Amino acid sequence: CGIVGYVGDKEASEFLIDGLRRLEYRGYDSAGIAVFDGERINITKKKGRLANLEAVLKEHPLHGHIGVGHTRWATHGQPSDVNSHPHGDCHNHFVVVHNGIIENYMELKKQLIAKGHIFKSETDSEVVAHLAEELDDGDFFSTIRKVTTRITGTYTLLFMNSDFPDTIICTKKSNPLIIGLGKGENFIASDIPAVINKTRRIFIINDNEIAIVKKDKVSVFDAEGLPVSKKVQEVTWTAEAAEKNGYPHFMLKEIYEQPKAVCDTTTIHVDKDGMVCFDNLNWTKADLENIDNILITACGTAYHAGLVAKHYIERFVKIPVEVDIASEYRYRQPLTSERTLCIVVSQSGETLDTLEALKEAKRLGARSIAVTNSIGSSIAREADYTIYTLAGPEIAVASTKAYTTQLVALLLLSLYMGQIKGTIRPELIKDITSALLTLPDKITEVLKEKDHMEKLADSLKDAKDIFYLGRSIDYAIAMEGALKLKEISYIHAEAYAAGELKHGTLALITKETPVIAVATQSHVASKMYSNIQEVRARGAEVIGIGYDDDPELEKYATDTVRIPRVDEFIAPILSVIPMQLLAYFTGIKRENDVDKPRNLAKSVTVE
Ligand code: G6P
Repeated sequence: CGIVGYVGDKEASEFLIDGLRRLEYRGYDSAGIAVFDGERINITKKKGRLANLEAVLKEHPLHGHIGVGHTRWATHGQPSDVNSHPHGDCHNHFVVVHNGIIENYMELKKQLIAKGHIFKSETDSEVVAHLAEELDDGDFFSTIRKVTTRITGTYTLLFMNSDFPDTIICTKKSNPLIIGLGKGENFIASDIPAVINKTRRIFIINDNEIAIVKKDKVSVFDAEGLPVSKKVQEVTWTAEAAEKNGYPHFMLKEIYEQPKAVCDTTTIHVDKDGMVCFDNLNWTKADLENIDNILITACGTAYHAGLVAKHYIERFVKIPVEVDIASEYRYRQPLTSERTLCIVVSQSGETLDTLEALKEAKRLGARSIAVTNSIGSSIAREADYTIYTLAGPEIAVASTKAYTTQLVALLLLSLYMGQIKGTIRPELIKDITSALLTLPDKITEVLKEKDHMEKLADSLKDAKDIFYLGRSIDYAIAMEGALKLKEISYIHAEAYAAGELKHGTLALITKETPVIAVATQSHVASKMYSNIQEVRARGAEVIGIGYDDDPELEKYATDTVRIPRVDEFIAPILSVIPMQLLAYFTGIKRENDVDKPRNLAKSVTVE
């Protein structure tokens, strides 16, 4: 979910709606705002996209200079007007917006109903407003402190109180919250893009801190109620970075930003001799000799980046790597120890499953590194070390440039570890770093396949099932290709290790099931060609993705998509790009909202 708040002299609803638009990637099942009009707090909320709410507000505007807003990704209670946020108590005396899950809400709700509270929605969030009303002692801050001691779970919460019409109080636990500092006005939000066109100066709120936000003052306190002195953080990227800049969709813009994103992420870690540097890590050989195994844990696209990194690390660092889905890792009694290095990968740095997996690995003694795109995010703060991907803000729900920069960062990290441990020759490091430095130009080359991919999307758009095949690293890339297609086109797609297909799934292959085959790894190339022939023999059309100097692929595939010849460890960063474009155009041809695919949210801060 996305949350915003405004206190100042301007019309609150203007910032609230603009901020929600910028946060819509966090959820778009419903949206709502609450504004104090001088006498009382009025709430307007609507199921569906933000546009629905805007249409209502056009007819019936909410005027006032203080307010909160919310865009929802439904957890408890289906998307409906009444389940939308903000939620008020019986008299809209306390009004809240909430992101997260209040785990003990059933129990609290029962107690509050017994005391005469009448609930309107099925949500866990409404309980918080009624609880504040119940615990109200006339002091806004002290009441909210009491509320936080009674609720369990995860949350970002913003409170309004009609008795204190100049104040919003906000707090968080495990979910993100920032405050944008303006002049004579202050902005509250789940994430930086909401405030970036208003201010670059922000406070990042930590777990259990409570902030009192007025138009010319922000005071932050810890859980004990003691004042905390916060450091102002300056946001380095520009407001334009979070705009479409002439592209029809963020997804296409972000696909096209990959040369720059990859360049930025590479250059800061390669020195003039072509060796890899991670100044903040500063590891010694002894540090690495104390690591017996490496765990990579993440979700979605970031998990797929982890699958590629396993190949990198095992090859260059010679330490066994397991890659696990964060929501599985946490509940499987893993054999993590103080001799484990845990690497978590997360674009947003806020995915709750990943954050909790990281905490679990740390609890078991592991050392930890986060690879993330979000400076100061919860995951960045929780990990012992952080490596930033410099992709810039990624707004489209389906990840593209964040993924390719994750691959770059993980490749560089494995080279760095191998360099220190002495398990990789310096010449090979130099070969790969120099190939990485020229990679942006090669990505630009691959982007020229755009029209070709748009045409190929025509042949895919009516398919019911599509299979993606690869071997070795190409299998991991195939998984990401299939996920992109599922997210954006809503066509069922599945990635298979090409050699495994014949052990069952080949039964599903017919002329109705297009196949996308990735073939960039020479040690399995001939096997891959055989697998392509297996599916062709069952009638499937095959789009092959391989090198432009590979004469073999076109002998077997129905159509081929070419990438320039590169080091085989770098190939995945190129071969995924045609698959991103293919997913994008297939989604467009099916008239889907490619930036905001149904049922999804970019940053999922619930388990
Ligand atoms: C959500 C998004 C996915 C993303 C995953 C992990 O489910 O829809 O696109 O890959 O979260 O996100 P993270 O921010 O941790 O990389």
